[in-house]
Amino acid sequence: MRTKIVAGNWKMNNNYEDSIKLAKDIESKAANLNLNNTRVIVAPTFVNLKGVKDSLGNASVEVVAQNMHQAKNGAYTGEISAEMLQSIGIKTVILGHSERRTYFNETDEALAEKINTVLENNMEAIFCFGEVLEDRKSDNHFNVVESQIKKALFHLKDADWKSIVLAYEPVWAIGTGETASPEQAQDMHAFIRNLVASKYGDAIADNVSILYGGSVKPSNAQEIFSKPDVDGGLIGGAALNVDDFMGIITAAANL
Ligand code: PGA
Repeated sequence: MRTKIVAGNWKMNNNYEDSIKLAKDIESKAANLNLNNTRVIVAPTFVNLKGVKDSLGNASVEVVAQNMHQAKNGAYTGEISAEMLQSIGIKTVILGHSERRTYFNETDEALAEKINTVLENNMEAIFCFGEVLEDRKSDNHFNVVESQIKKALFHLKDADWKSIVLAYEPVWAIGTGETASPEQAQDMHAFIRNLVASKYGDAIADNVSILYGGSVKPSNAQEIFSKPDVDGGLIGGAALNVDDFMGIITAAANL
């Protein structure tokens, strides 16, 4: 059975105290839920990673990074390495978020290198991709997603896939309040799973968790997550409010 995941991407929000409070609130509320094998993840900004991690008492809420540099170390002012993350106990990193691609010019080629660094360090990647509105309107969305996945991931070996989580995030749905319909999400997730199967076979494709991201809220989570190829969500805005985030976690846990 595939692992269900609900991950909160806090982006550049929450100062130190707010981050710790939010994480602890999530942890205490999650303790009262039957998570039913759902992984609960939060991704604070770099400076708050260690504080949030240290403030949590057990492993029921995982703390992950929002980005990472591909190089081992060196003259990359302002960047963070895999080793640095690991030295504070961070094992998972979000890569390729559309905001990184758009505002910080992250290319598919750089992302392929970042994925390699994740694997060399025995870490896990939540790899994000998705089309912009023009691609969707011109019916080019499947081609765009295929190209993003092939360029960043199709050099992997079979065994590497146990360290990869996929996150389909149509750019037109991120932070806009506009969500892909459950059918649009399912169509794309099935396409992605078939694409992985075409190169790596059914067993690997069946095991990879594919998250949906883009304006997921408590009111739409259940319908989206109930689709067969949707294995949870990557949540932005609604992850900043404990009740909204718990509502989304509950929707995944109840499946
Ligand atoms: P959103 O963001 O939920 O605010 O649309 C999703 C994301 O960027 O991961």
